[in-house]
Amino acid sequence: MIRPLRIGLVGSGFMGRSHALAWRIAPLVFELPVRPEIVVLADRTEELAAQAARQLAIPRATGDWRDVVRDPEVDLVDITTPNALHKEIALAAIEAGKAVYCEKPLAPSAADARELTEAAERMGLSTFVGFNYLRNPMTRLARELVASGEVGEVWNFRGIHAEDYMSDPGVPWSWRLDPAGGAGAVADLGSHIIAMARFIVGPIDELVADVDTVVTERAITRGGAPVRPVEVDDEARALVRFANGATGTIEASWVATGRKMYLAFELTGSKGSILLNMERMNELRLFVKGQKAGREGYVEIPAGPDHVDYAAFLPAPAHQLGFNEIKAIEVKDIAMAMGGGPAFRPDFREAYEIQRVVDAILLSARERRWVSIDEID
Ligand SMILES: NC(=O)c1ccc[n+]([C@@H]2O[C@H](COP(=O)([O-])OP(=O)(O)OC[C@H]3O[C@@H](n4cnc5c(N)ncnc54)[C@H](O)[C@@H]3O)[C@@H](O)[C@H]2O)c1
Repeated sequence: MIRPLRIGLVGSGFMGRSHALAWRIAPLVFELPVRPEIVVLADRTEELAAQAARQLAIPRATGDWRDVVRDPEVDLVDITTPNALHKEIALAAIEAGKAVYCEKPLAPSAADARELTEAAERMGLSTFVGFNYLRNPMTRLARELVASGEVGEVWNFRGIHAEDYMSDPGVPWSWRLDPAGGAGAVADLGSHIIAMARFIVGPIDELVADVDTVVTERAITRGGAPVRPVEVDDEARALVRFANGATGTIEASWVATGRKMYLAFELTGSKGSILLNMERMNELRLFVKGQKAGREGYVEIPAGPDHVDYAAFLPAPAHQLGFNEIKAIEVKDIAMAMGGGPAFRPDFREAYEIQRVVDAILLSARERRWVSIDEID
């Protein structure tokens, strides 16, 4: 009989529901060393929590996340709340000796992320952060193509995460604009593409950046008054230099009119190039030098059972995995780590490194100069 992994879920919005699904799907398709079980759900009020717990078939509900953190039946606290709450909840969970799985961005600043990382490491606790796109089998293929030398030396990485959910100036103020939760698009979306850049190319050494707020005030409720000033960035762009000598760009925008999920990169190597775009997350485009004249071009590789983790869901190629399946792969890897398997990355320490890049972008934009990542503690 495998032992249970008892999860306390905090938040039942977009990500809370995706996590709940993932924890259910993972043991159905993967062989896990532990049996994940969501034992309690916390949300902002008793009513919200009870309603969501009923729908998600979670046995207990509470209107106070502190109940989850101090619950002796909980092994792992899974945080899917707005960003401004991550640090307080994660710290309380660590102090209570629980493993923590937190949505990205881990904390409002690198200093906060470091505090969490050090607290967890002092306690010897496992930590996990939800940079799920790194779990896409096609992202893993891109990493393998680079690590194996198939595309040669990496010369350039052009990365972007652009969406348009804040592009309408009529979208009212929300927690995403709360400076208590940290930066704007550069933290919300930029953190994903920075995670991707580090995963595939390696650490970034220095950068120069610009950030901008396009919609400078928003109504508190749609169409209503009064309005509130927007204090965080809507878009950011940086020139970056990687430790291995590669150069590149990182862009983030949540006002990219028409873009819905444009987390993408173009990687240029000395022997080949890779294009990957999460709007079409089941396809990787690969160019390898040395093709016959007049026949040169990218090949489109569809995700299939020959790629890592795909066959657990589908026996046939090009039948498409989606966002929730990628989340299920993420929680599978968490369950593996909790059952004594390989350590999970990105953990809090890696999320801190990602946050240092976010903070460096903000510092560079503020001071209008190149910034070394080492300047950010
Ligand atoms: N990994 C990804 O791809 C991805 C995608 C979207 C969002 N996120 C991250 O997930 C987190 C949540 O985003 P979302 O889009 O699910 O937001 P959301 O607004 O849909 O959900 C937030 C949930 O937290 C609850 N909540 C608010 N205050 C609370 C409190 N005090 N105690 C308990 N619960 C509380 C809300 O009621 C809601 O259920 C954010 O950190 C965001 O950056 C990650």
